[in-house]
Amino acid sequence: MSLSGKYFLETYGCQMNEHDSEKMCELMEQLGMESGDSADNADVVIINTCAIREKAEHKVHSSLGKIKNAKLKNPDMVIVVAGCVAQQQHYELSKKFHHLDLVLGTHNISELPELVEKIRKDRQRVIRVDFSEDISSLHMLAPKRGPRPICSYVTIMQGCSNFCAYCVVPYTRGREQSRNLGEILEEVPQLCSKGVKEITLLGQNVNAYGKDLGNGNRFTELLEELSRIPGLDRIRFTTSHPRDFDASVATALGSLDKVCEHVHLPLQSGSDRILSSMRRGYSFSEYLDKIDILRSEAPGCSITTDIIVGFPGESDDDFKSTLTALEQIRFDQIFSFKFSSRPGTKAEHMADQIPEEVKKGRLAEVHTIQDRITQGYHKQLEGSVLEVLLEGHGRQNQLYGRTRTNKIVNFNDNAGYPVGAIVQVKILRGLNHSLFGEIAY
Ligand code: 5AD
Ligand code: SF4
Repeated sequence: MSLSGKYFLETYGCQMNEHDSEKMCELMEQLGMESGDSADNADVVIINTCAIREKAEHKVHSSLGKIKNAKLKNPDMVIVVAGCVAQQQHYELSKKFHHLDLVLGTHNISELPELVEKIRKDRQRVIRVDFSEDISSLHMLAPKRGPRPICSYVTIMQGCSNFCAYCVVPYTRGREQSRNLGEILEEVPQLCSKGVKEITLLGQNVNAYGKDLGNGNRFTELLEELSRIPGLDRIRFTTSHPRDFDASVATALGSLDKVCEHVHLPLQSGSDRILSSMRRGYSFSEYLDKIDILRSEAPGCSITTDIIVGFPGESDDDFKSTLTALEQIRFDQIFSFKFSSRPGTKAEHMADQIPEEVKKGRLAEVHTIQDRITQGYHKQLEGSVLEVLLEGHGRQNQLYGRTRTNKIVNFNDNAGYPVGAIVQVKILRGLNHSLFGEIAY
């Protein structure tokens, strides 16, 4: 197979989607195509979509609308929609957008080159959205690319079997499928030999890694094995599910040097009534117990979370419980969202949907509280010296990197440390979303 010309790829959504896009780039380049910087003069345009909230989904409609004129000028252009919206709305998309050539589902990424080539030859539209019990792109070796060449994502599992009432992921990505341990242990040393220093293990529920392979949860075993790989400095993972997060992971965090002290543990709500209606599988006090274990096994570990406001039926009192939870736990950072009704989910038809204005007000309250807490943490760090992995060069000759606890640090350096170096940085200022410092000699 070979094709010449340029492709342009646009990505929306989470790290999982970013990583799928990296795989698609790799496949297009293996085919002989080069990456271009604009959809207007590309031969193949790929839009990798996200369906987690309605706003993300609207973006695919607007991108497809915009590209229509370019396709009129260049009728040979191949337009591809991939990702979660493609998976869930292939019928609607192909009906509405006549210039769309390929709808590629979440389990079909590896078929991209062959289908693009076929479409270029036959000019026939293809819709490929079949779920598979063995997703072939899960076995693809992670390509090293992107703005942070020393950091790489490594998929350890795909899909989710939890069916939280608000979430579209189990429908768009299918059930949990763990990747074989041996395959991961083969991939990571290859990445390290290409200069990768830090990996982020990706999965919708990494704490359940291995369960579907039939021999129990093997996540901590995976962390232990990865820790032995020479040349690898840092190991991160996301996302953890509070129900499956147990003491063994907290212990691994505290005892394995390469595993960074940061856990993203989505709480979603501080109200037991709402947690149960969301079908999260834990109560607030059970969540608190996990936080206590984590903080005692891995002191100084940063904890981040996701919060949804305005889930159907969320009363003022339920919402207050979420605010109290934020004050009580003091997360390092949070990602907060207004509930967005998603087609096919349990919550779509739940009674007592919350008005948009109320959701907006609640989100603003959450932001006010959390901004104060995050800034407090950042201020506290002023004067301390932290280990930073140098990831790249930013604006005004500054360098940037992250602490082990996943905080972004911009800093000055005249010593010319190379990207990939681990340096000690003295924090001079704690800003709202990052830290600023200088190399500590
Ligand atoms: N509405 C709002 N937020 C959502 N999330 C997932 N589905 C929805 C939805 N329908 C949020 C959750 C999840 C994060 C990735 O996105 O907080 O943890
Ligand atoms: Fe969605 Fe819940 Fe699965 Fe996370 S655990 S992907 S929120 S269904």
